[in-house]
Amino acid sequence: MSEAKKLFIKTYGCQMNVYDSERMAETLGGSGYETVETADQADMILLNTCHIREKAAEKIYSELGRFKGLKAAKPDLKIGVAGCVAQAEGEEIMKRQPMVDLVVGPQSYHRLPEMEAKVTEGKKALDTDFPEEDKFEHMPNRPKASRGPTAFLTVQEGCDKFCAFCVVPYTRGAEVSRPVERILTEARDLVERGVKEITLLGQNVNAYHGLGKDGPMTLDQLIWALNDVDGLERIRFTTSHPNDMTDALIAAHGECEKLMPYLHLPVQSGSDYILKRMNRNHTAEEYIHLIERIRAARPDILLSGDFIVGFPEESDADFEDTMSLVREVNYGQAYSFKYSSRPGTPAAERALVDAAVADERLQRLQALLSEQQYAVQDSMVGREVSVLFEREGRLEGQMVGKSEYLHAVHVTAPNTARGDIRKVRIVNTERNSLGGELI
Ligand code: 5AD
Ligand code: SF4
Repeated sequence: MSEAKKLFIKTYGCQMNVYDSERMAETLGGSGYETVETADQADMILLNTCHIREKAAEKIYSELGRFKGLKAAKPDLKIGVAGCVAQAEGEEIMKRQPMVDLVVGPQSYHRLPEMEAKVTEGKKALDTDFPEEDKFEHMPNRPKASRGPTAFLTVQEGCDKFCAFCVVPYTRGAEVSRPVERILTEARDLVERGVKEITLLGQNVNAYHGLGKDGPMTLDQLIWALNDVDGLERIRFTTSHPNDMTDALIAAHGECEKLMPYLHLPVQSGSDYILKRMNRNHTAEEYIHLIERIRAARPDILLSGDFIVGFPEESDADFEDTMSLVREVNYGQAYSFKYSSRPGTPAAERALVDAAVADERLQRLQALLSEQQYAVQDSMVGREVSVLFEREGRLEGQMVGKSEYLHAVHVTAPNTARGDIRKVRIVNTERNSLGGELI
């Protein structure tokens, strides 16, 4: 038997890219590849790129530059660019970096084996189509090998919201939901291989409307269907848009046992004017009212969000509105970014906020969000949580896992294994994790 060819994939950006990279590795497994941890061992290097913020394309070009030596030493080394930068830049990548052999957009990953074969013949391969078929249906089933206790599962891709700052509707295309039965099959298969927790992924996951037996099903209905999968213990989903938080989905947070009490619900800004200019289609007050309804359904839910500061035209008063909204909501966790202009989006045409002003705002917002994160962590001390152990810790007998609130928890638990779920009392908090004791 010939020796396996070596594939190195470097993943940038979101959890969907993490999922896609796994699936690409499995697909190329069929062409004789096994994955390796470093680029210098590889016969093929794939960069799975992200285009959402800051000079993404420039970073990829400089990363590619670093492979020059490898390519010189091993001329038949194949170099490919996948993901959203591939979609956005297309052929331009091969023009600027001729050593790139393959450029593949996110909707064409099922065509990778043919593309790889073409490159083996010494040709270039480019595919940035938005094909009709569901790429995952045309990718091989995930191998039966056992795996860690948590997994991502993409249920929906693309977005029709067109927020004025965002490239996703252009790079990932229009919103498409995968059919329910395929998702359930993939979920059962993951559970057979040891998975206890599944995070459903989608750029606008709560707009999910995949085909079920009797017509389209909504995200809450999909969650209820997954709730019946034996052996699956925990369900999460991300990322949601406030305008797609239906009553039924809110109710599921109170009623569905396996749905974890954690919700990532980006608002981006607390200013009605900026929200309007961002094309978010809701006000700050509507968001706060929504949060109240979610907390009424599930009082202990931990809320997370995304924020953009320095969006074009953002005044001091607009920014203060964001700070007020954050104070009112009280997040357990959040991501905040300085606005970066994305070519082709409506906001890219508008005048930028002074960079120093935007930096200062970002610092103030991040200080407030960290304060809230630590206060929520402190409030966990003394409480009983359940922890799904994911890996061994650095100390003897220590295990690390996640609570239902997605806090990382370190526990001395010598007689437990990966995949065990145990009751734990939180005894202390560190910067980005909690410490607990088995009950
Ligand atoms: N500039 C800054 N942040 C952005 N995001 C998306 N596009 C931009 C941009 N052009 C942020 C949003 C989104 C998260 C995934 O990334 O907050 O929710
Ligand atoms: Fe981008 Fe999310 Fe807005 Fe869709 S809802 S355009 S993915 S920020």
